[in-house]
Amino acid sequence: MRGKLTLVGAGPGDPELISLKGVKALKTADVVLYDALVHPDLLDYAPSAKKIHVGKRAGHHSFKQAEINELILEYALPGKLVVRLKGGDPFIFGRGKEEIEFVETFGVETEVVPGISSINLPGYYGIPLTVRGVNESFWVITGTTSSGQLSNDIRLAAQSTATVVVLMGLRKLDEISEIFIQQGKKDLPLAIISKGSLEDGKVIFGTVENIRSQKNEIVAPGIIVIGEAVGTHPRFYEKVKAITETYL
Ligand SMILES: C[S@@+](CC[C@H](N)C(=O)[O-])C[C@H]1O[C@@H](n2cnc3c(N)ncnc32)[C@H](O)[C@@H]1O
Repeated sequence: MRGKLTLVGAGPGDPELISLKGVKALKTADVVLYDALVHPDLLDYAPSAKKIHVGKRAGHHSFKQAEINELILEYALPGKLVVRLKGGDPFIFGRGKEEIEFVETFGVETEVVPGISSINLPGYYGIPLTVRGVNESFWVITGTTSSGQLSNDIRLAAQSTATVVVLMGLRKLDEISEIFIQQGKKDLPLAIISKGSLEDGKVIFGTVENIRSQKNEIVAPGIIVIGEAVGTHPRFYEKVKAITETYL
């Protein structure tokens, strides 16, 4: 009998942000393959499972996607229940589709348990992605495409009124700011959420132009949130006024 692959979204950090369905999958797993950003406490739900760290920050060996796919197959084909525990949601910049497609080719059953994504972290800190009458959409964009470049979609999004959420973009903050400045939006509110929902998580408020003055405080992983909706947070104007007085 062939086993099964269940992709489980672990949530963005805080281990209580996994779903009940995700916990149930972990409890019955024979093998758990987990990523670097997954909270270690979540592994306690699978006390008897074999646990393998396949994340990019996993010390000596960095697993390539093809190796992870093979590993899943190695356990699932002989009948094991494999949980692939991924940070946030497996289908948002998580390469979940590749893993599903690969094992399905070999007749392995699959299931996806969605997770709370890092794109939900603004809400965790009281920053809305949409505000009635302020913006009509939000864009979620990668700061680092497969070629290592900033996504060109950021240029398109910067022309709109959307709230723009950038994942994997901290190293390109200057480049991103510059794109908005070129659109005449230097005063647009911006927030960086670092290590969101974890104990040492924090939010840094600024504008597209002055956020650079707080660069030392920014720690990965982080998301960048840009747009008028960010400015509706009660702490925004107080914080940005203080920065303006200090640095400009
Ligand atoms: C490879 S992507 C995976 C995204 C994940 N699938 C999700 O739905 O959140 C990794 C990026 O997610 C964001 N991220 C993940 N965890 C985060 C956290 N706790 N706080 C802030 N950003 C986070 C960062 O932008 C990081 O570079």
